[in-house]
Amino acid sequence: MKKTQAYIQANQQRFLEELLDLLRIPSISADPTYAGDVRRAAEFIANNLRQSGADQVRLEETAGFPVVYGEKMIDPKAPTVLVYGHYDVQPADPLELWESPPFEPVIKDEIIYARGSCDDKGQVFMHVKAFEAMLATNNLPCNIKFMIEGEEEIGSNNLAIFVANNKELLQADVILISDTAIIANDIPSIDVGLRGLSYLEVTVQGPNRDLHSGVYGGAVANPINILCEMIASMHDEFNQITIPGFYEAVQELGATDRAAMAQTPFDLEAYQKDLGIASVHGEKGYSTLERASIRPTLDVNGIWGGYIGEGAKTVLPSLAHAKISMRLVPNQSSEKITQLFTDHFKSIAPKGVKVTVTPHHGGEAYVMPTDTIAYQAASKALAETFGKEPVPTRGGGSIPVPTVFEKELGIKSVLMGFGLDSDAIHSPNEHFGLFNFYKGIETIPHFFKHFYALSTK
Ligand code: BES
Ligand code: MN
Ligand code: MN
Repeated sequence: MKKTQAYIQANQQRFLEELLDLLRIPSISADPTYAGDVRRAAEFIANNLRQSGADQVRLEETAGFPVVYGEKMIDPKAPTVLVYGHYDVQPADPLELWESPPFEPVIKDEIIYARGSCDDKGQVFMHVKAFEAMLATNNLPCNIKFMIEGEEEIGSNNLAIFVANNKELLQADVILISDTAIIANDIPSIDVGLRGLSYLEVTVQGPNRDLHSGVYGGAVANPINILCEMIASMHDEFNQITIPGFYEAVQELGATDRAAMAQTPFDLEAYQKDLGIASVHGEKGYSTLERASIRPTLDVNGIWGGYIGEGAKTVLPSLAHAKISMRLVPNQSSEKITQLFTDHFKSIAPKGVKVTVTPHHGGEAYVMPTDTIAYQAASKALAETFGKEPVPTRGGGSIPVPTVFEKELGIKSVLMGFGLDSDAIHSPNEHFGLFNFYKGIETIPHFFKHFYALSTK
């Protein structure tokens, strides 16, 4: 292990430069304009894996963007770790709020600024470089398989098909994912939960064309006014969601688990200050940590319609649109919730408008047990490199793949992430600390060491 860490030390500058090259590729999966770049990012990862010593490296084509596969099988009897991550990134908008261009990475005060630096290229790359270091120093105790996809940020639909069709290829003992955060650089943690997701788009149509807001205003339903009312009505005075049946399947956390959660380090003041808000807001009866992890939500992600250009135009619009996400918790089904939303939304629309609801993508919530070898290995690895026992936490974000793996392959995932919630993923000025990048590379070989030792005990 000493040799491996020395190798990492000696090569850290090159590791960083390679990552910066990867960050220069605008691999935005949601926007067809960047389709060529998304593929270029896949090729970059594949080439780097090859140079790092992986075998069988190839792009596995799907109906969408390719999955990068690579492996090193050292011994058929050794345990196998499947590393999952994604090379696609979120759109960079709004561009004008970036202090430096999103795909021209800069390092300021030991922090890398670029879209994808934390989510998830920086974290994927930690695994590639940790693998290179383990292999180069003869210190790879487990078989390793890489499966790095390009459609995580758009719902991983094609990956689910890929997994179902490649069960043999993907056989492994654990899936290791670095695509989450720790509490703070001096408070290591492991996410043991992810929320599910139901994402959809709604349209409200009023009159058959835009109208003069004086000639017709007051006499015809304004679809934007109506949409706002409909959306507002979906939360009650306790900030609970009013869709009938929405909470029916929700798994409530027991008193012991809630008490444990209340012990998780959390600084409300720092949280509010970081976000520039005077107060938090949410469902009555739950703490901020609970609201952002074990409780379901309904949020408007975008809303538009009517005149939004310079100056004033008096117009009563024909159409109003919104993109809405619902974060889900264990036992809620994404498909069921999408249906409940659709039925409810249609039922509350007044007669003067027509509504359509178009589902986008979804995924199920995931909770990982802590009494597994995989969790123990991650816990020991983090304890060694941070000098502190990691805290199990429930995260609020979504990664669709762990449920797919569990269903198709019966394999559990472990979420050993190294970002920070304040890294501004999906926001302008996304960043990733050099500390976090290098800590990840340092910790991963310890995971392999412990996973091997615990598996063969
Ligand atoms: N890495 C995130 C998810 C995440 C972030 C989990 C922080 C826990 C902590 C992932 O790339 C992501 O953004 N997922 C999407 C879901 C997807 C289906 C579009 C999300 O959560 O919005
Ligand atoms: Mn991610
Ligand atoms: Mn993301």
